[in-house]
Amino acid sequence: MRPLSRLLALLLAASAAPSSGSSRLAAVEPSATLSAPVPAFTYDRHSFLLEGEPFVIIGGQMDPQRIPRAYWHDRLAKARAMGLNTIFSYVFWNLLEPRPGEWAVGDGAGEASAANDIAAFFRLADETGLRVVLRPGPYICGERDWGGLPAWLSRVPGLRVRAYNAPFLAASERYLRRLADDLRGLQATRGGPLIMVQVENEYGSYGEDHEYTRALRDILLDAFEVPLYTTDGGVEWTLRGGEVPGVLAAIDGDPRSGFAARDQYITDPSELGPLLDGEYYTFAPDLWGATNAHQTSEGQPAQVQRLVDDLDFVLAANNSISLYMFHGGTNFGFGSGALWRNYTATFTTSYDYGSPVDESGRITDLYLAFRSTIQKYAPRGSIPQYPQNRPLLEISNITLSPTVPLFSALGAKATSASPMTMEELDQAYGFILYEHTVDTALEGVLQPGDRARDRVIVYVNGVRQGVIDSSYIEPAEVRLSLLPGDTLRLLVENLGRVGYWSRESNTFVALEDPYKGIVGNVTVGSAVVSGWDIYPLPLDELPTGGGTAAPHAVAAGSPPVFFRGTFRVGGGAENPDPAALDTFVAVPDGVKGNVWVNGFHLGRYWVVGPQQSLYLPGTVLKPGGAENELVVLELEPSGDSLTVFGSANRMWANNPDPDYPSALP
Ligand SMILES: *[C@@H]1O[C@H](CO)[C@@H](O)[C@H](O)[C@H]1NC(C)=O
Ligand SMILES: *[C@@H]1O[C@H](CO)[C@@H](O)[C@H](O)[C@H]1NC(C)=O
Ligand SMILES: *[C@@H]1O[C@H](CO)[C@@H](O)[C@H](O)[C@H]1NC(C)=O
Ligand SMILES: *[C@@H]1O[C@H](CO)[C@@H](O)[C@H](O)[C@H]1NC(C)=O
Repeated sequence: MRPLSRLLALLLAASAAPSSGSSRLAAVEPSATLSAPVPAFTYDRHSFLLEGEPFVIIGGQMDPQRIPRAYWHDRLAKARAMGLNTIFSYVFWNLLEPRPGEWAVGDGAGEASAANDIAAFFRLADETGLRVVLRPGPYICGERDWGGLPAWLSRVPGLRVRAYNAPFLAASERYLRRLADDLRGLQATRGGPLIMVQVENEYGSYGEDHEYTRALRDILLDAFEVPLYTTDGGVEWTLRGGEVPGVLAAIDGDPRSGFAARDQYITDPSELGPLLDGEYYTFAPDLWGATNAHQTSEGQPAQVQRLVDDLDFVLAANNSISLYMFHGGTNFGFGSGALWRNYTATFTTSYDYGSPVDESGRITDLYLAFRSTIQKYAPRGSIPQYPQNRPLLEISNITLSPTVPLFSALGAKATSASPMTMEELDQAYGFILYEHTVDTALEGVLQPGDRARDRVIVYVNGVRQGVIDSSYIEPAEVRLSLLPGDTLRLLVENLGRVGYWSRESNTFVALEDPYKGIVGNVTVGSAVVSGWDIYPLPLDELPTGGGTAAPHAVAAGSPPVFFRGTFRVGGGAENPDPAALDTFVAVPDGVKGNVWVNGFHLGRYWVVGPQQSLYLPGTVLKPGGAENELVVLELEPSGDSLTVFGSANRMWANNPDPDYPSALP
C-alpha cells in the first residue's frame, strides 16, 4: 500500500536522529547521543531494553476475548504470581468488527462485547505489574473461526486474504487503525504497558508474499509507536517466508532448534535482535472426534519435565519466551475454528490447551513447576504469592423440557432457485436451513452442493434420514426416494471456518474458500433440485416464548428442539465471589448441540468428545437463590426430557458418533 521509500525515509531518520519513536525500527545498536531520551522499550542485537536496562521477557499468552471480563484480573494476578512479566494477546478481528465499520467494544450489549475491550484488559495488566504484547493479526490463526478474520470479508469483491491485495489491505488498515486508536495511550512510549506489536501471524507457514507483509508493517509503523516483530516456525522455509525487513524475527515452538535456526537463516541485520520464542507450546488444543484424547500434561511427569527443561534452557541464557497458552480459556459461542486434513477437523469449545492455568482459572501442577523454574531467575521475593484454588460448584440433575422445535422458530427467509451460501445472506455463524417442496418424484443419492459444509442433517417430512458430515474423510451417503408434496429439509451446521491446514493435504479447502451452507446445486440422483426457501439461523438470540410453550412429544429422528429448565444456586446475593459458582455443564444424554445459560452461549457439545462438559463461568449465574435459565438446543433429540448437571470436575471422554458408529476420521 505504501511506497517502500517511506520505510527508507524512516530508516534514514532513525539513523540520523534517534528518538523513542524511530528506534523501534531496526533497533540495532542504539546510536544514542547524550541528549537523546532513553526509549521506554527497545532492543539491541542481544537484549530487549526497558528504560535502558536489559529486560528478559518472561511471557505467557492469554486472549481477553476467550475469558469472561470479570475474571481478567484474577487471571492476570495469577500470571504475575507465576513470575510472568508480560502477557501476549491475540485480538479477534471478527468479534471486534462483526459488520463492516461496526466496532463492537464495550457497548453494554452483554459479556461478549465487554470482553472485546482490549484497552481495559491492557490497563488491568498494567495495574497488575505486567507488560503486554499485542498480536492483532489481521490473521491470527489461534484455532479461531477463519483464523480470526471476519466472515464478511468473503463478500468484498476482489478480496484475497493474507495477500498484497488492495481490498484486503484497506479493510485490514481500517481495523488496525481503529484498534490503535483504542490503545494509543497504553503504549510504552506514553508510559503504558504495551511494548511490542506483532506483524501478521506465522505468515511464513502460509506464503511468501513479502509485498503484503511489508505493507502491513508500514500500516503498523504508522499506527503504533512501539517495536514490531514477526513470529514464525523455527525452520528455514517458514523463517524465510515470514521475515520482514526492519522487523525483529522471533520463532515459535522448540526453542533449541528454533533459536539456532533464527540466527542461521535470518541474515538481514535489520531483522536481528534478542532471541524470543513467541509461542512456546504448553500443550495443544483439543479437536472433536471419537479418537481424539484430551491434550494435557496432567499426570505425565515426563511431559512436565520436558516443558520445565525448555523454560529453564531459555531463561538460563537470558533469552525471552512466551508460554502459549498461559491460560487458554474458552471458545464461547460459535468461536472455535477448524483445520483441514482432507476432512474438517474442528476445535472443541474448550481452549484449555493443557495450560498452567486451566480453563476455569484454576492453578495446575504445571503452573507450580513453571513458577519454581522462574523463581530461580527472579530477584528473591519479587514473585507474589499465588491464591489457593477455589472448589467448583456441583449442580445436581436438572430436567429440561422441550419448548420450541427449531423449525418452528424460523425468521425471515430468502427464496431462490439455487441454494445461497450463509455469506450471501450476510450470516457469519450458526446454522442455515434449506427447504424444498418436491414437485417431481426424485430418486437417488443426495449431494448437498459441492461438498458438505460442514454437517448436513437431512429430513424428509420432518424425519431425519441421515447426516452428511465433513468431519469424516468419507461423509455418509444419504439415498432418498421423494414423491411430489414431500418436504426436503437440509439443516447445515457451520462447524467453524478453516484457519489452517496441513501442507500435504489437498488445499482446495483453504483460507480462500470459507463459504458455509450450500455452495452449488443440490442434486438427488442426477436431478438438480431447484426452488428453495432458505432460513438463516445465526442463533445470536434465542427464540422467545420458550418458557410458555407446552411440552410436546419428541420422537426419535425428529428435528432439533430447544429444551429449557431452571435452577437456583446459593452464594450470597451481596458481594458474591463468582468463582465459587464456576462449574462444568454436562448434557449426559445429548448427542450434539449448544447450551445457553441466562442467555449466554457457552458453546457446542458433542458426544464424541473429548470434551464432555462445558465451562460455565460463575459470572453468568445469578446467585442467592435467584432463578437461572438453562436452554439446550439438541440437534438429535430422542425423548421428552433432557438432563443437565453441573460438575465440579471437568469431564473428558470419547464415545462413538451415533451417526457414524464405525467411522474414524
Ligand atoms: C544474564 O543476565 C544476568 C543479569 O544481567 C547476568 O548476571 C548473567 O551473566 C547473564 N547470563 C548470561 C548467560 O548471559
Ligand atoms: C443424572 O442424570 C443422568 C442422566 O440421565 C443419570 O445417568 C444419573 O443417574 C442421574 N443422577 C442422579 C443423581 O440422579
Ligand atoms: C489429501 O487429498 C489429496 C488429493 O486427493 C491427496 O493427494 C493427499 O495425499 C491427501 N492427504 C491426506 C493427508 O490424506
Ligand atoms: C445449478 O443448476 C442450474 C439449473 O440446472 C444451472 O443453471 C446452474 O448453472 C447450476 N449451478 C451450478 C453452480 O452448477
